[in-house]
Amino acid sequence: MMSSARLATSQFASSFATRPTVVASAPGRVNLIGEHTDYNGGPVLPVALERRTAVAASPAAEWRVVTSLDGAVHQLDVAGSLRRDWTDYLVGVVRELGSRGVALAGAHVAVAGTVPAGAGLSSSAALTVAAARALGLLAGRSLSAADLVEVAFHAEYDRVGVRCGRMDQTIAAHAERGTALLFETGIGSLERVPLEHRLWIVETGISHRLTGGALNERRRECEEALALCRTWRPGLRFLAQLAPADLPEIARRLPPPLVPRVRHVVTETARTRAAALALAAGDLATVGRLLVEGHASLREDYRSTVPEADFLVERATAHGAYGARLTGAGWGGAVVVLAPADRETRILAELSRDFGDRFGRSPEAWSTRAAGGVRREAIPAPTS
Ligand code: GLA
Repeated sequence: MMSSARLATSQFASSFATRPTVVASAPGRVNLIGEHTDYNGGPVLPVALERRTAVAASPAAEWRVVTSLDGAVHQLDVAGSLRRDWTDYLVGVVRELGSRGVALAGAHVAVAGTVPAGAGLSSSAALTVAAARALGLLAGRSLSAADLVEVAFHAEYDRVGVRCGRMDQTIAAHAERGTALLFETGIGSLERVPLEHRLWIVETGISHRLTGGALNERRRECEEALALCRTWRPGLRFLAQLAPADLPEIARRLPPPLVPRVRHVVTETARTRAAALALAAGDLATVGRLLVEGHASLREDYRSTVPEADFLVERATAHGAYGARLTGAGWGGAVVVLAPADRETRILAELSRDFGDRFGRSPEAWSTRAAGGVRREAIPAPTS
């Protein structure tokens, strides 16, 4: 597979008839466990993918942008109204940089990469973090990883309007090869957990679109639950601070539809911390069991799975994987499979065959190891 930096450089050259001044790239992510906890003050355990999105850019008097997905060059008015397409993420980054005093009159920008979009693998954070790095460099500024997270998060949350947490931007900016990242969102701590084992990604082929959709609705439910909990627990800052022992009281006091949402957040918080400990101890069987329990909680309590994902999780474990679960926001997207190294090829082949029998198409399935975070790329030499 061609590198994202090479893809973006060649898209830049064919759209703007010159080579870019800077190229930066950032990874997509797979969340091992800790789903819908990052906007509830809980822990997450994401891993950076080897698949990346690259942004190639040069200074210019106006904004012209292109993605290799369709090759169409758009002239952007970064002060105007949003277009409700991928360019909004870029405009969001430009505005966030501007509000921090990193101003550019314009730029030519080409975006390309290998992170599939709409698959729950955070192609949007890969784009915003890479864009923040590339445009910051064009403006002569080297932003810290923490700054990149803030720019990318606010671009998506405030400008595009996706009510996300900070998990995706944090892993894209802070990832280190060979490690998962235990991010305690309530206190902001980052802890690296060694992960040499290969992870498999099986895409359900059901694409999700998050803007204004189900994620925002879940987040509203969590905010409502938190406000109600505060009537008898005034100091409570996040739902993830509740303990499993609080759940019977929650069940008595909250309106029935909110109870399973809180139960997911509370049990997922405990599972994520347990999974990080098991991973650090090299106990992949326990990690796998926690993944399966996490998926059941998404299916029963958070109601964010789809039948294709439920099927993949059930078949993966039946064929001998340690475990599997839907990763990312949900309502489509991809399943992460943790399988014993000596049996993974057979398990994945059987899984693809079962999926084909049931849904009449083969799923995209590929593997990754834990990769590194955002980086400036050397500009690849032109291919003749
Ligand atoms: C999306 C959001 C993340 C996180 C996940 C669910 O990917 O961008 O911040 O909330 O959903 O865990």
